Amino acid sequence: VHPTATRRPYPIVVQSENTSYSDEFITSKFVNRGAAVTVRDGQFVVAPTSKAYEFQTARKVAKTGLMMIGIGGNNGTTLCATVLANRHNISWHTKSGIQQPNYIGSMLRASTVSLGMDPSTGKDVHVPVCDVLPMAHPNDLVLGGWDISGVPMDEAMKRAEVLDWDLQRQVAPRMAQLGRPLPSIYYPDFIAANQEARADNVILGTDKQVHLEHIRADIRRFKQENGLDRVVVFWTANTERYADVIPGINDTADNILKAIETSHSEVSPSTVFAVAAILEGEPFVNGAPQNTFVPGVIELAERHKSFIGGDDLKSGQTKLKSVFAEFLVNAGIKPLSIASYNHLGNNDGHNLSAERQFKSKEISKSSVVDDMVAANPLLYKPPAPGVPKGSKEAKGEHPDHIVVIKYVPAVGDSKRAIDEYYSEIFCGGRSTINIFNECEDSLLATPLILDLTILTELLTRVKYRDASASGEFAPLYSVLSLLSYMLKAPLVKPGTDVVNSLNRQRNALEAFLKACIGLESNSDLLLETRIW
Ligand code: NAI
Repeated sequence: VHPTATRRPYPIVVQSENTSYSDEFITSKFVNRGAAVTVRDGQFVVAPTSKAYEFQTARKVAKTGLMMIGIGGNNGTTLCATVLANRHNISWHTKSGIQQPNYIGSMLRASTVSLGMDPSTGKDVHVPVCDVLPMAHPNDLVLGGWDISGVPMDEAMKRAEVLDWDLQRQVAPRMAQLGRPLPSIYYPDFIAANQEARADNVILGTDKQVHLEHIRADIRRFKQENGLDRVVVFWTANTERYADVIPGINDTADNILKAIETSHSEVSPSTVFAVAAILEGEPFVNGAPQNTFVPGVIELAERHKSFIGGDDLKSGQTKLKSVFAEFLVNAGIKPLSIASYNHLGNNDGHNLSAERQFKSKEISKSSVVDDMVAANPLLYKPPAPGVPKGSKEAKGEHPDHIVVIKYVPAVGDSKRAIDEYYSEIFCGGRSTINIFNECEDSLLATPLILDLTILTELLTRVKYRDASASGEFAPLYSVLSLLSYMLKAPLVKPGTDVVNSLNRQRNALEAFLKACIGLESNSDLLLETRIW
């Protein structure tokens, strides 16, 4: 895994007329190639397209703070303790020996991309993904946040029962220095009733406008006290129920601001946090499944050119599904049903044992195979022409797909996920594949939160322009769909298609990072190995 030195000189030089470097920026030219396809009398008429862009990436990594909502929970405390262990190089004893801290599970720090081939050896040259562009090091993130539970951070880590005791013991004094989480917004209607006993650290009153101002002031103060250039605000608090989307209340930017002013009951705590971040010009990422980003919030982010990303961390079962279902469908095998069962015993599981909170999770876990199915009309009959959008038939033929989650306290944070893929194979045959996946939930989720934070900070520094127009460089679009790799139900630009396939999500990210330094995305064609 990548060395722990946090500030190294940027290690890549691209020698090309497409790439230029100044002290401040890396500027690249990139041709976005595609194809326009029209179907005429059963014939596909394909016209290759290309459009040239320039990207400009500010080289100076912002001094970045990560403010987590739900910092006192399993993810929040695990993240803080493991970053502290890495930062201070704390190793610990386990029953199998001495364990060093690391960032395994971080796509940015523990996986690589190929830059090209070394002509002297004919071998690919790989670099850590985090070296492709200047990125923040997780050890350097300034950590803070809110929780409705006021238990101090060292005690909260103990309560989580995630980390080995010898690590907890050593890191506890540093966790104690983080103090207590900031008081947070608690609207009991949005999370399970079983969470009430935790809620001893709440911002008083019921005036949502006052709550909004309070959170904005918290973000400003944190930024100022720590001398930060950027604060990523991250929801890793309990899953809320869905908010009803009501015309006149949360459907437009103006309406959501008005609904907060009048303390409307359908404005959730997570939406208040998202609005606070947007108004402060700081990015907001939603690591849970609820619809924090009601249409009014997306419009508000667009209006302020603020960045948002979500929803729901893709750590275990869904991550595997977004690989496995694609593998089957791309192999020409037809999944008839996908049945997913989970049981877990942590506080997240307790919260999800309530029907309305489970519903949020069920929705985010369920859509994951939709795009793969839609891409293969040979296996799945597409919807009949003229079927009304949003109707049941509009989806076309589809595998049966169920998701069950049960709370089993004994297994704690070690979630069990059982998936059955039942498929049609050649000439009427059947194939059944069962997967039993045991996940240490928070140890899978923590590197995702770090990657999302670091990528988000990077994407705030990347600007683009149309190469032919040579106008001003503009920031990327507000909804950061490039974060999809780490998210179960990726939020995308309204009106555009969601990509769930893990491979495609990774390719997109890799291609984008490379485009920013003027390189074409990887080609697995390897033509030189196939010709004389
Ligand atoms: P947790 O229950 O241990 O922690 C959540 C924390 O949020 C608790 O400390 C709780 O007191 C706090 N909280 C609840 N409402 C709050 C509010 N309005 N403001 C501030 N704090 C509030 O749960 P865990 O395991 O840390 O998961 C956190 C979230 O991440 C959940 O929504 C979960 O569904 C989601 N998630 C977790 C994954 C994982 O693998 N651990 C994967 C995907 C999503």
